Amino acid sequence: MKHLLKLSDLTPDEIVGILNLADQLKYEHKNGIEHHHLKGKTLGMIFQKSSTRTRVSFEVGMYQLGGNALFLSSRDLQIGRGEPIKDTARVLSRYLDGIMIRTFEQSEVEALAEYGSIPIINGLTDYAHPCQVLADLMTIREYKHSFKGLKLCFIGDGNNMANSLMVGCIKMGMSVAIACPENYKPDEALMKWAAENGDFLCTSDVLLAAKDADVIYTDVWASMGQEDEFESRCTVFQRFQINDEVMALAKPDAIVQHCLPAHRGEEITEKVFEAHAIELFDEAENRLHAQKAVLVKLLGNN
Ligand code: CP
Ligand code: NVA
Repeated sequence: MKHLLKLSDLTPDEIVGILNLADQLKYEHKNGIEHHHLKGKTLGMIFQKSSTRTRVSFEVGMYQLGGNALFLSSRDLQIGRGEPIKDTARVLSRYLDGIMIRTFEQSEVEALAEYGSIPIINGLTDYAHPCQVLADLMTIREYKHSFKGLKLCFIGDGNNMANSLMVGCIKMGMSVAIACPENYKPDEALMKWAAENGDFLCTSDVLLAAKDADVIYTDVWASMGQEDEFESRCTVFQRFQINDEVMALAKPDAIVQHCLPAHRGEEITEKVFEAHAIELFDEAENRLHAQKAVLVKLLGNN
C-alpha cells in the first residue's frame, strides 16, 4: 500500500490490517503508551473545501505519532493561482513525507500520486471519502464485534460517502442496501462492482432498504460544492430521512452512523440523532485512530 486514494485500491486484508492497527493505537493512546512512530515526519494537508473533523484529527494524529502537520489552504498555495498539480506534487515531495488532500476532482488526488514521490491520502473528493469509511468500519466492528452477516443501509444522496461505504462494506463481506432518489444513484461502475462482488441493492424504497439493517447510515442531501442545488435537493430528498419509521424496521440493536456534519430535520431527525449520539461521536473519534493507522502504514519505516 503506497497511497490511500480510494478503497477500491485496497485488498480486504489491507483494510483489516489498518483496522487492527487503529484498535491498537486507540488502546495505546487511551492508556498513555507512547507511540511515536512518525518522529521527525511532516504531513502536508491541502484543503480546497472546509473541514472540522478531517483537519483536526489529522493534525492531532500526527502530533500524537511524534510528527508534525502543516495546514495548507488552497487559498494561500500557488495551486489556487493555477500552478499545476503535477508541479506542486514534485515540489512538495522534496519537503514533506506525505500529503493529505481534500478537493473536488478525484483526478487531482490521483495526479498528486502519479507525479509526486511521497504517499498521498484522499481526505475527501466528490467521488470518495476513504478515511471516513475506515473510521466507520472500525466503529461498526467495535459495536458488532465482526462484519459477518451484517447489513448496512445508506439512505440519501448517492454521493462520495455512498460510493466509499459500498466498496468498504462489500470488501468486508457485509451486505449493502442503498436507498436514494432515481437520479441520485452512486457511481455506476462501483454499483456494478458491488453487485458482482457481494450482496448489494440500490432502490428508491427506503423501508425496503432499512429492513433488518444492523447499521443505518446517512449523509447530507447537498454536499460541499452543491450549495446552489440545496433548495431543489430538499424537495427531492424529503422521503430519504432517518426517522422513527426507518428505525422501527431496522434491527432493534441497529446503530446509526453519519459522517457529520449533520443537518437535523433534513437527512436525520433530532430525536434519532440524539438517541444515537454516543455511537455517532464514537464514529467521529475513530477518525483519529483510523487515520493514525493509515499514517503509520504509509509514512512509517516498517
Ligand atoms: N466527516 C468529515 O469528513 O468531516 P469534516 O468535513 O468536518 O472533515
Ligand atoms: N458528502 C459530504 C461529506 C462531508 C464529510 C460532502 O462531500 O460535503
